[in-house]
This record gives sequence, C-alpha cells and structure tokens, in this order.
Amino acid sequence: MSLLELNNVSKTYKNGDAVLKNINFSLEKKECVGLVGESGCGKSTLARCILQLASVDEGEILFNGMALQNKNERNLRAYRRNIQTVMQNPATSLNPKLKIRDSLLDPYFQYGAQAALRHFQYTNERDFVKQLMEAVELPLELADRYPHELSGGQKQRITIARAISLEPALVVLDEPTSSLDILSQASILQLLDGLREQLELSYLFISHDLSAVNEMSQKILVMKDGSIVDRFKKEELFSESRHSYTKELISLYQ
Ligand SMILES: Nc1ncnc2c1ncn2[C@@H]1O[C@H](COP(=O)(O)OP(=O)(O)OP(=O)(O)O)[C@@H](O)[C@H]1O
Ligand SMILES: [Mg+2]
Repeated sequence: MSLLELNNVSKTYKNGDAVLKNINFSLEKKECVGLVGESGCGKSTLARCILQLASVDEGEILFNGMALQNKNERNLRAYRRNIQTVMQNPATSLNPKLKIRDSLLDPYFQYGAQAALRHFQYTNERDFVKQLMEAVELPLELADRYPHELSGGQKQRITIARAISLEPALVVLDEPTSSLDILSQASILQLLDGLREQLELSYLFISHDLSAVNEMSQKILVMKDGSIVDRFKKEELFSESRHSYTKELISLYQ
C-alpha cells in the first residue's frame, strides 16, 4: 500500500479557473517524489490540498489507504501530525515574537512527545530542543534568539527541525530553498536528503528547479497548467521518450 495516493484530483477556484486537473500519483514510504513545473501551474495548490489546507472538488487523497474525506477529527489530527511541511519563506513560518526555542517546541506541546519515535528520544523540553538543533546542524545558542537574529538559511533549518521533530511519515517541501542563495540552497538540500535517510521520512519535493528535483528525488512528476504531463524515474530524465515540455525544462539547465 502506498503512503500517499491521489486519484483523479481536480480543483477549481471560485473564479472558475481549473487549477488542478485530474491529478494521479502515488508516493511510497521512504521515497522522495519531485514535482516540478513553472510558476502558477498549481504546485502549491496541490500541496495545500495534501496538507488539508484546501479542499479538492473531485477525486480522492488516500493516506495509508484511507481516504481523507472519511476521516473524523481524531484521525485528522493524527494525519496532521504525520504530514508536515516546509514552505518557501521561513520568515513567515516563524512567529517573530517567539524565541526559536519556543517555536521549535510548538509540536512538542501540541502533540506531546510521548509517542514512540524511531530515532529521537526526548526526555524533556530542553533535550527536545538540543536534539533538534543538532539534527539540523545549528549551534544550541541560536535557540535563545528571535527569528530576526538568524539568517535565512538558519531560519529555514529551524522550520525543518520543527517539521521533522515528531518524525512524520511525510514532509511536503514547497520550494524550501527558493528564498536562499545558491550556497545555502545546496547545504539545505544536502541536509534534507540526509534527514530523509536517517529518519526514514518520505518527501514530496516541490520546485521549479529541475536540477534540484533531480538531485533529491527517485520519481519525478512534471506539471503544466494544472496537469501532470510527464512522470518518470530519475534515471529516465534524459530518455528520448520524455515529454516535449520536460525536454524544454532540461534545456534550461544545459
Ligand atoms: N486562493 C486562490 N484563489 C484563486 N486563485 C488562486 C488561489 N491560489 C492560487 N490561485 C491561482 O491558481 C494558480 C496556481 O497557483 P499555485 O500557487 O498553486 O502555483 P505554483 O505552481 O505553486 O506557483 P509558484 O511556482 O509561483 O509558487 C495560479 O494561477 C494562481 O493565481
Ligand atoms: Mg508555489
């Protein structure tokens, strides 16, 4: 059974524009699926539907074989704990009035750390913060600062730490490095890749950058105007049978 499965998912915004058209794909445990496409093609809308921040008009989203539409509040809470996100702009993901430590602790207080985890073993709040700062390779002293006292890359590491803190099944990464410079981008991608291995996470990695998607993912989906126009395994990126739009994206990087 797949971890996540989308069957014929469609969505139209109120103004009548179809933004997602008949989306089908599945994502397996421990896998990174990349979703690439130009600005406005519907990537974030799809992410929001998976995160249950937006509703779909047609089709279904299954998590561990169970349709989200059929979940009651209790199951939805478990789902939300199990699907976390890292978005493009870390500045807006962190509360400017909270010290980093308190932002990090949010999931700890919301869900409790009593659940058995595979990798982390938290004995108390202090320990929780310490282990997470280590996991994202930041010095512990930064935990006592406010977001505006951190660089963009450091802030993004904090949002990653928060997302992985309870070892979710899936992390939806929506352009997680787009606001950063090239060097920080590379080190954040490397960190994410290592965390996936170490914590046995699955990712949906969304980006307009095909080379980043190719580096991170085992399977790649190419989206255009709300439809998935091409899908393939990483090894098949340069295959002759690629869709003309994928070839166009490839040519941008050569
Ligand atoms: N709440 C909304 N109401 C109406 N239209 C919306 C809404 N949110 C997004 N859209 C439109 O839906 C389309 C897809 O937007 P979306 O944010 O999903 O694209 P994207 O692929 O994530 O783009 P980007 O790469 O720039 O982040 C766009 O045309 C956008 O204007
Ligand atoms: Mg987007």
